[in-house]
Amino acid sequence: MAFRSTTGIIFLACLIVLASSAVPKNIKRKPANPPPRAEVDPEKDAEITNSCPDDGFFADAEQCDKYYECRNGEIIEKLCPDGMVFNDYSPEQEKCDLPFNIDCSHRPKLQTPIPSLHCPRLNGYFSHEDPKECGIFYYCVDGKFNMITCPDGLVYNDKTGICTWPDEAKKTGCGAADVFQFDCPPVNETFGLTHPRYADPEDCQFFYVCINGNTPRRSGCKLGQAFDDVSKKCEWARKVPECADWYKDQLTDAELDALENPPTVKPKPSGSQPTRRKSQRPKAKDVVIEE
Ligand SMILES: *[C@@H]1O[C@H](CO)[C@@H](O)[C@H](O)[C@H]1NC(C)=O
Repeated sequence: MAFRSTTGIIFLACLIVLASSAVPKNIKRKPANPPPRAEVDPEKDAEITNSCPDDGFFADAEQCDKYYECRNGEIIEKLCPDGMVFNDYSPEQEKCDLPFNIDCSHRPKLQTPIPSLHCPRLNGYFSHEDPKECGIFYYCVDGKFNMITCPDGLVYNDKTGICTWPDEAKKTGCGAADVFQFDCPPVNETFGLTHPRYADPEDCQFFYVCINGNTPRRSGCKLGQAFDDVSKKCEWARKVPECADWYKDQLTDAELDALENPPTVKPKPSGSQPTRRKSQRPKAKDVVIEE
């Protein structure tokens, strides 16, 4: 549904000129009497006659950030801001988006980038320059960057523009083994399917969930809590013998008391039961490891 090249455009322009004199307004799918220069190959012909049959916005056939506006037989070539691509979901909408949900595989060309510090293009999400910085990325708007850090244990995924688990991001040098200093202990298949958990040997607040017994994902308990390797649950740190002093440099006893027994200022619909583990990982896409 799009133009192939500049020659196509010129050709189309001619076609429209011809058409506007011969046929009023909208060109239908196939002109009844093909114009003289009909030696164009049939595929191209079909594309061209399909591309501007009505008013609207149409993607370029080769370049993802280039599009055309057709208005009363007039064609205007347009370009998305650098880093954005044309959203071709509807010809009625003039929309450029970040490339994550747009399929550019059939029109892979892009305009020449306009790079600036940390921003290979003016707009978009970009990995840190150092491939070992797995969880840091930049959000660029008009060439100005913001550095963003993924929640602990997650890796910036170039393909989706979000932070995901290392085994999902599949980024070279950022696999679970690179990001975590943790190997899942070998277990049998049956037990593996329970996604066993293990305390992080380095940090009382964290633990590893071994997906299918072999792929570690790091997860955390909320502030004041520690992962109890016996019960395999988050528990108030002071009740977990090997972690009883874990927060002593960070929180006073009074603060820990307050965390354990939050002051009931606002009446909450459901008491002060420990919240679900999910709430610790607001940005993790799928912390779905439940008992
Ligand atoms: C698998 O391992 C678990 C835990 O070590 C053990 O309790 C269970 O009996 C084992 N199952 C099989 C089928 O070997």
